Amino acid sequence: MVDYIKEIERLKKEKNAVIMGHYYQKGEIQDISDYIGDSLALAQYAAKTDADIIVLCGVHFMGETAKVLCPDKKVLVPDMNAGCSLADSCNADDFKKFIDEHPGYKVISYVNTTAAVKALTDVVVTSSNAKQIVESFPKDEKIIFGPDRNLGNYINSITGRNMLLWDGACHVHEQFSVEKIAQLKQVYPEALVLAHPECKKTVLTLADHVGSTAALLKFAVNSGKKEFIVATESGILHEMQKQAPDKIFIPAPANDSTCACNDCNYMKLNTVEKVYNALLNEQPEILVDRALAEKAVKSIRRMLEISAQLGL
Ligand code: 13P
Ligand code: SF4
Repeated sequence: MVDYIKEIERLKKEKNAVIMGHYYQKGEIQDISDYIGDSLALAQYAAKTDADIIVLCGVHFMGETAKVLCPDKKVLVPDMNAGCSLADSCNADDFKKFIDEHPGYKVISYVNTTAAVKALTDVVVTSSNAKQIVESFPKDEKIIFGPDRNLGNYINSITGRNMLLWDGACHVHEQFSVEKIAQLKQVYPEALVLAHPECKKTVLTLADHVGSTAALLKFAVNSGKKEFIVATESGILHEMQKQAPDKIFIPAPANDSTCACNDCNYMKLNTVEKVYNALLNEQPEILVDRALAEKAVKSIRRMLEISAQLGL
């Protein structure tokens, strides 16, 4: 029987590899990651690592972002089937048509997109910096925002902008039920509701705090309150509980109570065994066409530059 944890440690040293894990990964993967974070933090870590191999424990677009930033490194994703319904909701050809139909618009895309969409984009954002990056454009700038309509609507509402939105969404965040969260509030009247901006407007309206996974974590840890209903992918509860062991975190219920809908089925494809196999075989590897990567990297670098200027 292979001792995966021990072998992963050995292979990491032998191959100068690093493991980066998103907060939505299974707890056991977060625990073996050298870096854990939200999408922004993972891109920032990838941009500055001196490892030869990055094992990106997240979904395909995260691996692609790392590869575009580090074309000379080997980027592995433990399970190549780890896709993203939000990225899938924005096909690059259709997005290009949409952009062509609206000349004179700047294009802002959420990081949950393919490299082909990023290559059509002026600046990429994540939920951690979307507000500030949108506000860095002049007030009268005409902007296309894609692909998440919920995040786009939310940013429009807090900035007073009127960005033109692509009609995409994440199947996990769209599932949270306002009625069931309200019922849960009756059981836990002191609990604060924390919601990711990919949730529908009705959920965001009843939330006490809206933010990226990293922002929700920070808020929960620093809050004087003890109980939280968390409307985002359930993986974040692992780090919340770790950083605030005395607090109570309750996953927000989804519309369909027969499924574990607040688990992202793509994120949860990665396992410790698959991480070991990826390191051992240096497969599956993310490959991005060089010419495409050279176009896509500009919009990602722009995001990193603005974020650095803003201290994010
Ligand atoms: P953040 O990591 O930016 O909070 O995004 C959440 C998400 O859905 C990642 O897939
Ligand atoms: Fe994509 Fe949604 Fe899964 Fe995030 S939670 S990876 S947006 S499908």
